Amino acid sequence: MVIVHTSTAEVIRERSGEKSTVGFVPTMGNLHQGHLSLLREALKHDPVVYFSIFVNPKQFGPSEDFNKYPRTLEDDLSLIRTVEKEFPSSKIVVYAPASPEEVYPPGYNQRVDVTGLSERLEGANRPGHFEGVATVVYRLFEIVKPREAFFGLKDYQQYLVIRQMALDLSLPLKVTGMPIIRDHDGLALSSRNQYLNAEERVEALTLSRTLKKVKEALDGKKMNLPLAQKIIQETLKDPRWNYLELLDGHSLSRDLSESGLVSLLGVFQLRTTRLLDNIQMELK
Ligand code: PAJ
Repeated sequence: MVIVHTSTAEVIRERSGEKSTVGFVPTMGNLHQGHLSLLREALKHDPVVYFSIFVNPKQFGPSEDFNKYPRTLEDDLSLIRTVEKEFPSSKIVVYAPASPEEVYPPGYNQRVDVTGLSERLEGANRPGHFEGVATVVYRLFEIVKPREAFFGLKDYQQYLVIRQMALDLSLPLKVTGMPIIRDHDGLALSSRNQYLNAEERVEALTLSRTLKKVKEALDGKKMNLPLAQKIIQETLKDPRWNYLELLDGHSLSRDLSESGLVSLLGVFQLRTTRLLDNIQMELK
């Protein structure tokens, strides 16, 4: 069963009648297989899954693509219905707020800011972005009251910020990160890939290929870090890179001396489209 609500009051009413635990997948819509992988995983764990589709104005900067961001609710609902058929006894509640005021009623004054983790990388490039993300996710958690919420590791820093928020605020839920779903040639799926023209779509492969190259050079060994850093420095001579950094996979610190899990995170920019990707590895 798929139920669609466009008002927050309806979602709160629906939620108060649930007899079983609830899983949650927050999105901004324009769905692709990356989003659907989160929905499938959620349905494996909870018979009822709430799925939000909301382009959150608070996480876009003034010169960013908030107005242009693709809004494709009918197509999104068709995709959700295909997944529902794979889980015949499930209930999917789509929460697609009709307007930002549904999420932030007039006078809403809350702001959630996870300091430290939010200030680096994407946070440094997009001031206020993670505050907007943490604020909306907190608000959605409050409405949906999930047992578990699913996020893609595609937005690795976002996942860490949300995990930290849940920990700091003692939220009674589990935050789960799911693997990146990629196109056949390695490009991580993203709603923003459709901004690329044919030539840029080919150029975009530099991103995932570079991550793979550095991971192979590291070969799971800390002693190969200087070699990896050399490749990264060479790579960054290409101005299409916003950043490419090898960081501790938990704290995003540059100090890797104590690190087991290490993340390589990069943003490659083609015209105005910033493509994000990352890769995780254990180093010994
Ligand atoms: P959105 O970009 O729509 O992504 C929704 C979720 O899908 C996020 O958890 C994201 O990491 C995941 N996702 C996107 N592409 C993926 C891929 N290729 N493989 C696996 N997962 C993928 O992220 C947001 O929306 C917003 O910031 C949100 C959390 C909804 C708050 O507004």
